[in-house]
Amino acid sequence: MNISVIGCGYLGAVHAAAMASVGHEVIGIDLDNAKIDALAAGNSPIFEPGLPELLTAGIESGLLRFSTDIANVGGATVHFIAVGTPQSTRNTSADLRYVDAAIEGLLPYLSDGDLVVGKSTVPVGTAERFREAVEARGAHLVWNPEFLREGFAVKDTIEPDRLVYGVADGDDYAVEALNEVYATAIEAGSPVIVSDFATAELVKVAANAFLATKISFINAMAEIAEVTGADVTKLADAIGHDKRIGRKFLNAGVGFGGGCLPKDIRAFTARAEELGRGESVTFLKEVDAINLRRRERVVELVTEELGGSVFQKKVAVLGLAFKPNSDDVRDSPALDVAVRLNGFGANVVATDPQAMQNSRRLHPQLVYGTTEEALADADAVVVVTEWPEYKELDPAEVHRVVRTPIVIDARNCLDADAWADAGWEYAGLGRQVRNGRATS
Ligand code: UGA
Repeated sequence: MNISVIGCGYLGAVHAAAMASVGHEVIGIDLDNAKIDALAAGNSPIFEPGLPELLTAGIESGLLRFSTDIANVGGATVHFIAVGTPQSTRNTSADLRYVDAAIEGLLPYLSDGDLVVGKSTVPVGTAERFREAVEARGAHLVWNPEFLREGFAVKDTIEPDRLVYGVADGDDYAVEALNEVYATAIEAGSPVIVSDFATAELVKVAANAFLATKISFINAMAEIAEVTGADVTKLADAIGHDKRIGRKFLNAGVGFGGGCLPKDIRAFTARAEELGRGESVTFLKEVDAINLRRRERVVELVTEELGGSVFQKKVAVLGLAFKPNSDDVRDSPALDVAVRLNGFGANVVATDPQAMQNSRRLHPQLVYGTTEEALADADAVVVVTEWPEYKELDPAEVHRVVRTPIVIDARNCLDADAWADAGWEYAGLGRQVRNGRATS
């Protein structure tokens, strides 16, 4: 099929490349010249495993093209809207200006029988607002939320664990056309759920709200564990064995960040309030508050471990991305912790395998370096993003290069016993401090 993807960020760039990889002819559109130039040359503007290979293959096959000119969508019959819906600068609701602009810009190029497929995360009720204008052009509107995880975006796009189509009542044409777009995934077993617009829009925010709630639940347990001598990681393992609960998304630590979970729960709350049902999701404010308290707790732990003040102490901050396998620092708890420690006068040297460039753009005041530079003569080491290279650090080797063997494991991702045995004072979140220094 002939497809356009409007918006080539974390979502759209992957979607465009993935659609070309299953044999569609695709044009990706974005207003950002630099981004389009990079993509057109086969260079991924974001760190996403597998994406560079997919881009190169798509461009070489001639199936994948990029442009800044929306007029180039003319040859396509299926148009995906994949622009961002960031948090508004005025309040916690979603800023829909990019979705509005994308659909408005697309309308003149629509022909009879075209499909407009919204993938952006929008407040419930948004699709209905666009329906008339799209249908007036003889086109069909579908809301088809995206559930990809950064770091696994290529796999999640090519083999989605479910496909949700929100369509107008009785629009079988749209369902069939979208089934054709996703034929490869459907043949491989991805289930399709067809619903109305509102359900499809809500599925997306409900899924992210549930995941955020699960993380904040275990982080609330971590807060209780900290004052009772319990260990939240064992607690998570034990409750996770119950299949109704499950162990996934029960990793206590510095909490969730990124371009989705934080802003989605806030936008959902704002929308529920607009609808007069704010009380139904009041708990999401608590989820948000628990999450943000964890960042404070990490800073507090570092301070406690350094004897009450971080002032002029060298702190190695390992990790800046909001999660491993990503260079995304949007609302990153790791970057936030680095900035806060720096603000309290610590000599922070922050490092990350992929996210330093994005971090530097946002926070040029921080000192960035290699892992070796960060660790050299450090008074404390803080692991804030669980990259494999940090999990695999040899505690005995690192012990030799730091000034004081204090490690704060803000993701509970290190082997606490191994670090304590190597002579470190180990402090995790929701666990007791292990003082191994006596044995060193
Ligand atoms: C999330 C959802 O998982 C995707 O399904 C969704 O499509 C996407 O948002 C989106 O709306 O676009 P993503 O933001 O890539 O995906 O990241 P997650 O893997 O969900 O992680 C979010 C945050 O939670 C990270 O900061 C991670 O470190 C944290 N987390 C995750 C925990 O603190 N504990 C856990 O147990 C799991």
